[in-house]
Amino acid sequence: MDGRVVVVTGASSGIGEHTALGLARQGAITVLACRNRSKAEVVADRIRHEAESGTVELVDLDLADLASVHRCAGTILDRYDRLDVIVNNAGGIWSPRGESAQGLEMTFAVNHMGHMALTLLLTDLLRTSSPSRVVTVSSVAHWMALGGLRFDDLQSERHYSGLAAYARSKLANLLFTAELSSRLAASGVTANAVHPGPVRSGFGMDGDLGGLVGWGNRLVRPLEITPQAGAATSIYVASAPELSAVTGGYFARCRPARTAPWARSAADAARLWDASLHLLDQVGYPVPDIAASASGSDARPAGSA
Ligand SMILES: NC(=O)c1ccc[n+]([C@@H]2O[C@H](COP(=O)([O-])OP(=O)(O)OC[C@H]3O[C@@H](n4cnc5c(N)ncnc54)[C@H](OP(=O)(O)O)[C@@H]3O)[C@@H](O)[C@H]2O)c1
Repeated sequence: MDGRVVVVTGASSGIGEHTALGLARQGAITVLACRNRSKAEVVADRIRHEAESGTVELVDLDLADLASVHRCAGTILDRYDRLDVIVNNAGGIWSPRGESAQGLEMTFAVNHMGHMALTLLLTDLLRTSSPSRVVTVSSVAHWMALGGLRFDDLQSERHYSGLAAYARSKLANLLFTAELSSRLAASGVTANAVHPGPVRSGFGMDGDLGGLVGWGNRLVRPLEITPQAGAATSIYVASAPELSAVTGGYFARCRPARTAPWARSAADAARLWDASLHLLDQVGYPVPDIAASASGSDARPAGSA
């Protein structure tokens, strides 16, 4: 990864921090895209010290505010003349229903919409840097989004449960990855998703996750793997040479994994893509669309590696 530019969102703790550390250790110019600058500065210093290679830099990113997402993309475009990997890692689960700065439901806004907007704003740079990669951190929790997305209530206005909203946002990560990989099929930019495993990170621990789900989240902590182990699949998918042309995949434990049937719906992937672009337009933060790619790609679907 020497000299390659890698952006990791939510690198201020947990899986993102260790993903950034692992990629910095491989010599990458590692950009931590974080909402809390002072926390991110401490982490950046630690990574510089522990990695002993690569360059570690910071960029501000609050995925709950599309103005911040656009500023973050603008900074990256100004500062770097290439982008080899973006790891869409940041995410969370919230018990009471909250809203982003633009009034979108928080889980959907942070876990899906912000990352989709950021990725599309950076796609031209990814293209000119190809071969390049988009890695999105999803979760096995997408299996709990039984039957698929509720397109008539993407903002969970009728009924809200933190766990259900989280499961749907992680399904959205997979549908986004599927559609992106298909639209970028001939471009040399791959798009894959990962499940990190059950990880003893800051996930759900900031006081926002209450009730039975919050209690359960605390109960299983001793059984969970370390953030370092949880970062292994993200690092693998972001950097393994044998995956350079593999796209549209879902990986866990550093190998292809099975998605739920509702994550394999090409119709839902296209519908979510259009609905998300429409929402971004509606709230005043449009991003460039990506036309479907011409055929003739040398990219391979995951599983054929
Ligand atoms: N832990 C698990 O068992 C597990 C399992 C499956 C999938 N995942 C996924 O793994 C990813 C990383 O989670 P984690 O387990 O490492 O949890 P974590 O320790 O809580 O880290 C989450 C990261 O996301 C950042 N973040 C949250 N809201 C943000 C926003 N509005 N804008 C920018 N950054 C924001 C946090 O920033 P702050 O430091 O400022 O809070 C933090 O850096 C998430 O996508 C999660 O869904 C986790």
